[in-house]
Amino acid sequence: MGDWLAALDRRADLRAKAGLTRRLRPRAAGDPVVDLAGNDYLGLATHPEVTAAAARALSAYGLGATGSRLVRGSTDAHHALEDALADWLGTAGALVFSSGYLANLAAVRAVVQPRTLLVSDAHNHASLIDGCRISGAETVVTPHADVDAVAAALAAHPGRPAVVVTESVFSVDGDLAPLAELHATARAHGALLLVDDAHGLGVIGPEGAGGVAAAGLAGQPDVVLTATLSKALGGAGGVVAGPAPFVRHLIETGRTFIFDTAPPPAVVAGVHAAVGLARAGGGLRAELAERAALAVRRLRAARLTVSDPDGAVVSVTAPGPEAATAWAADCRDRGVAVGCFRPPSTPDSRSRLRLTISAGVPRPDFERALDVIVECAP
Ligand SMILES: Cc1ncc(COP(=O)(O)O)c(C=O)c1O
Repeated sequence: MGDWLAALDRRADLRAKAGLTRRLRPRAAGDPVVDLAGNDYLGLATHPEVTAAAARALSAYGLGATGSRLVRGSTDAHHALEDALADWLGTAGALVFSSGYLANLAAVRAVVQPRTLLVSDAHNHASLIDGCRISGAETVVTPHADVDAVAAALAAHPGRPAVVVTESVFSVDGDLAPLAELHATARAHGALLLVDDAHGLGVIGPEGAGGVAAAGLAGQPDVVLTATLSKALGGAGGVVAGPAPFVRHLIETGRTFIFDTAPPPAVVAGVHAAVGLARAGGGLRAELAERAALAVRRLRAARLTVSDPDGAVVSVTAPGPEAATAWAADCRDRGVAVGCFRPPSTPDSRSRLRLTISAGVPRPDFERALDVIVECAP
């Protein structure tokens, strides 16, 4: 009976030997740490207009949605958020999910027909990878941001329906996919382009509408967009946006929409308030871009290997998984939270610190945090 638990212990030992143990750390309310680990890019998670909108919906609707929207009914709050998102993203329709992960599972599955080929970037997020797997479609993984490889994969399967799957600003190194080129390539082969704009939404593009809008692809009939509502919008949930028949298809067939309790109305209302603030947040975006450039300059001056960020994600190479863990722990001991990415959460064998820059962090704290990262470097 206990064999399976002993097997789990052995696997935990192997992870520990490889420096890949993961541990939960306590987080108190009002945690004084300088946060370069979360994804609250615009500082909206705690914005008074956002929390007030959520509080109003909380007292109106109660804590949870109490069921899926098809079964329990679809609130005004959900529709208002979807209208606001579609307007912002420039799409005919939008559908919210209870997480970005579930939005991606639904989106990938919904674009797959019999014989569809999926062409997926090697740096794609786990939720896109799982979406490809769950869809059951044949998937070709192409080298990161390699448009020629995408073209070759499509050309090798003529006559088949195909979908190119990518992030916009990549979650690991913060670089922007060549979206316009990918779209032109996809279109030349009659393929669709599916973009996860999780780290682009609110951060880049006109009125912060994300990487798809920045590439001039908003509303294109052969583009499907997904995003999480948990990063620049400071809340929780996910969205899939695209042509109206596609959204209808998701409502009627999307398993992670149909068989999942709807996101809580309070969160939905808070995110709706955040959309308005994010659209008007040009000053916050300028501050983010400036901080990202400052981080790169400071860290490179200390001879660290730093990615070229196109959004607010900056990755710093660590010598190995143990060194990355120790580096992040030393930073935390000095009051600075940074992300620590090690295989298998990285698409290659490289371990990294990941800094997610937030305009909500006071500027002096941000600059001090950069000094701490340098001083703690292995
Ligand atoms: C690129 C990307 N897509 C999707 C997700 C999943 O979103 P959520 O946390 O809302 O499930 C994340 C991270 O959270 C992400 O970084």
